[in-house]
Amino acid sequence: MSANLDSDTGEESEAGSIARGDAPHNPPRDQARLVVAVDGPSGAGKSSASRGAAIALGLRYLDTGSMYRALTWWLLERGVDPGDAGLVGELAAEPFIEVGTDPSAPWTRVNGTDVSAAIRTREVTSAVSAVARVPRVRAHLIAQQRAIIANAPGIVAEGRDIGTVVAPDAPVKVFLTADRASRADRRAAESSWSAASTQVDQDRRDRLDAAQSVKADDAVEVDSTRLGLDQVIDIIVRLARERAGVPCPRQQTR
Ligand code: DC
Repeated sequence: MSANLDSDTGEESEAGSIARGDAPHNPPRDQARLVVAVDGPSGAGKSSASRGAAIALGLRYLDTGSMYRALTWWLLERGVDPGDAGLVGELAAEPFIEVGTDPSAPWTRVNGTDVSAAIRTREVTSAVSAVARVPRVRAHLIAQQRAIIANAPGIVAEGRDIGTVVAPDAPVKVFLTADRASRADRRAAESSWSAASTQVDQDRRDRLDAAQSVKADDAVEVDSTRLGLDQVIDIIVRLARERAGVPCPRQQTR
């Protein structure tokens, strides 16, 4: 198993908040508008694999989990109980959430403040599942995610429900999994948490996230338990080239 796998431009959508990415770069013509959906549980290595695939394919990158984390960070800053679904739903559209879609340097901002590091704290990680379950939160952020995807010249979007809800027409869908222990090991290696508390938290989050973490019927399941990061990236890139008809540069030059 690789130790390299991590666990983890849009426009107006709904009242008040806009999610906006960096200025798009120009992918090769054949890759224009390619959408690659990468879903799966925490710790399966979605972020590193999605970013790596986006770089290899010359596409933008969207980490939808960072948007749920950003809202959660903002709620916690205001002392809102993440378990108060009614209040969380009412406030869902208040903060101005922006995400950068450069796969080499993604960032997240709330009301202009860079929260890229702050949204990875234990406090946010423990609270985000409760926030992400609230229907008004999902409706609001999904609208923003769709706008970002629609405005990108081509994108790898990662999350839980990209292939089923956010971008069900994506031509390339991957459901990335790994066994329970290796997912927790990866999470623990990235944080100061013990392996045991990481496992307990992961199990709790898996339960809370289950409703929105469904594999699309047409998604290709990739088990990363015994794969290195480069191997997972290679699988996603090959699928993109096969399923979306993106030519392989090496074949073209022969
Ligand atoms: O991938 P992550 O750990 O950063 O996700 C943070 C939370 O947001 C997690 O509870 C799952 C949830 N999420 C979701 O419900 N839908 C998405 N598309 C992405 C993340």
